Amino acid sequence: MSKHALLVANWKLNHDRKTAGVFIDAILANTLPEHISLAIAPVMTMLDFVGEKLSRSKIALAAQNVFYADSGAFTGECSAMHLKEVGVRYCIIGHSERRVLFHESDVDVGKKAHACLRAGLVPIVCVGESRDERVGGETFNVITRQLDAAFHDDVGAHEIIIAYEPVWAIGTGLTASAGQIDEVHGFIAQMARQAGKLNLRIIYGGSVNPQNIEEIMAISHVDGALIGGASLQAESFLSMVQKLQRYSSK
Ligand code: PGA
Repeated sequence: MSKHALLVANWKLNHDRKTAGVFIDAILANTLPEHISLAIAPVMTMLDFVGEKLSRSKIALAAQNVFYADSGAFTGECSAMHLKEVGVRYCIIGHSERRVLFHESDVDVGKKAHACLRAGLVPIVCVGESRDERVGGETFNVITRQLDAAFHDDVGAHEIIIAYEPVWAIGTGLTASAGQIDEVHGFIAQMARQAGKLNLRIIYGGSVNPQNIEEIMAISHVDGALIGGASLQAESFLSMVQKLQRYSSK
């Protein structure tokens, strides 16, 4: 099997300049595989600093959130244009922590995806069901609803990434089974085809780590991973990069 994988480190609210600098120096001391795309999403105030450290590497800069308006009276927010200005390439949107803790709706997520595309950023739209929704047989309805909001008409041929992150698997040590991932990723791929969104990659997130990444990457329609906890230590991140190497195209 040959895949061009994308590995995104979602640092959430972790690392400061000192520890982020140590992490990046440790990663860049290695020869990284050419055919794996890597990205790091630090805390917003460190985008500049991390971007500068990554500037001579192929590792891309990612943001963890964005606001949907370009400018105006929105105290505390940051627009896609501002992210673009500091060199951001990818922007995570609709992460379940933002949907649950900050009450982001599907409509908000759709507007954020649109704002990213307008500014030339690649949105990483997170979708996924809660434990109750899975137990209640609602998984595909939830994914359909979340994707419908993200597949805005203007998405067209723009590059977009969907991250399937079952909420019950995030930070819990529980990973979805290969069958569950296969089923949902296949479903997303089919919805994307029907919506004419062909420039799309589907990555998996939820307790991905060096022990399970190979098994997850072997599943069809898995184009990479969005990684939280296991992306915080350079050693663990590197170990996943090395394991992904075997699934990358030459
Ligand atoms: P986790 O987080 O790898 O710690 O489960 C993934 C995510 O929230 O993106």
